[in-house]
Amino acid sequence: ASPDFTPDQTRSDSEPPRSTVATLADRWDIRPDHTWLRGQRPEHTVRFDEDGSVNIYGYPEAVKVLTNPQIFSNDVGRLFLDEGVDLDEKVQEGSLLQSDPPAHGKLRKLVSRAFTPKTIADLEPRIVALTRELLDQAGDQGTLELVGALTYPLPVIVICELLGVPASDRDLFKKWVDRMEQSASALLDDEVDDENVDVAAANRYVPEMHEYLAAQVAERRRNPKDDLLTSLVQAEVDGDRLTDAQVLNFANELLVVGHATTSALLGNLVLCLDAYPETAARVRADRSLVPGAVEESLRFLSPVAAIYRATTKEFELDGHHVDADRLVRVWVGAANRDPRQFTDPETFDPARDPNPHIGFSHGIHFCLGAPLARLESIIALNMLLDRYPELSIDPADPPTFMALPDAIGVATLPLRTG
Ligand code: HEM
Repeated sequence: ASPDFTPDQTRSDSEPPRSTVATLADRWDIRPDHTWLRGQRPEHTVRFDEDGSVNIYGYPEAVKVLTNPQIFSNDVGRLFLDEGVDLDEKVQEGSLLQSDPPAHGKLRKLVSRAFTPKTIADLEPRIVALTRELLDQAGDQGTLELVGALTYPLPVIVICELLGVPASDRDLFKKWVDRMEQSASALLDDEVDDENVDVAAANRYVPEMHEYLAAQVAERRRNPKDDLLTSLVQAEVDGDRLTDAQVLNFANELLVVGHATTSALLGNLVLCLDAYPETAARVRADRSLVPGAVEESLRFLSPVAAIYRATTKEFELDGHHVDADRLVRVWVGAANRDPRQFTDPETFDPARDPNPHIGFSHGIHFCLGAPLARLESIIALNMLLDRYPELSIDPADPPTFMALPDAIGVATLPLRTG
């Protein structure tokens, strides 16, 4: 970090203020509208937009929404459909994220039979080897663009390994993930210049990828292997199994929800450590702090900044009346800095314990991939610290950020590595 910057002047004996740039968010101009990243509390914990949608900024209010799926449904897509348009149920089949109880519980139970803590833990040696391989490829010239070198490719390759996609087909997945992200940016961000993104081409990944995955699923039914696709095909609860469409949509969902998020987490973690050099030195010297640093960066700079729900009926939330069929945005990033829940919320503290952040959501939709995201991040950070004496941002070559409006994460992160 440059010597004239301290991200947070409200704290701290250990990291004295060094400049007029008050926060990490200001320093890199991260989401100017996310004022909570700048130490400001939203005036109200619940706020209505003119269109009747609801914004939740407080921690207890967020938990109330996330633990009440009967009123706050994950089937948000229906709010955006023009009247008379039927959702293609086939696309939703197998999606945990878009389903509500009781279907969600049944699906999650089935998928959890395959996606177990042991499945994840067994990946550890492969993640170590892949991280080493990627960093070896990047070389050691005293600088490293972290996203291109590591945080973008690693999660895709790991999901491919997990599913059992042959290594020779990994490049196909990388291409699909690129397109997926282009098409999501074009869809969600008004500022993305559609002329620069061939949206039609970007969207073609969907049928191509489905066709590929369908063939892989059929193959697993004929020739079971030791991989997640096979476990998904074979998983059984009370005599029920997943259909082919459910298996392939779920595999697709893993890529959609497990890629940009993990990449963002790793980048944000390094961004936080760069901003707090003394804390970074402590983590470097005492690696038992690494898991805590991962959790704290999920709280401090939550990659998923907002979680969406749709109200199924009218209700009262802390004295506010909300109609049915309204969009609810749970601002995870704001709730994770609620002083009613977190002591010194503006302090980046890897030793924070307990740290009940909701960066992975809360309740029945709690991120199924959290153990994997944690494992990848812990391995990657340890290896970065082992390899490079320095991991700092050159202010002359600042990071850039993802265009998605509800995500916070670097798109490029050039580092000086010593
Ligand atoms: C759900 C965040 C990585 C798989 C979620 C949700 C959040 C989240 C916020 C819940 C959304 C909601 O409540 O509507 C993250 C973050 C990650 C990450 C911040 C990385 C830092 C992963 C990975 C995978 C994964 C690596 C798998 C490979 C899932 C799945 C769900 C989910 C399957 C749906 C669970 C359900 O609806 O029951 N994630 N995720 N995630 N995540 Fe993650």
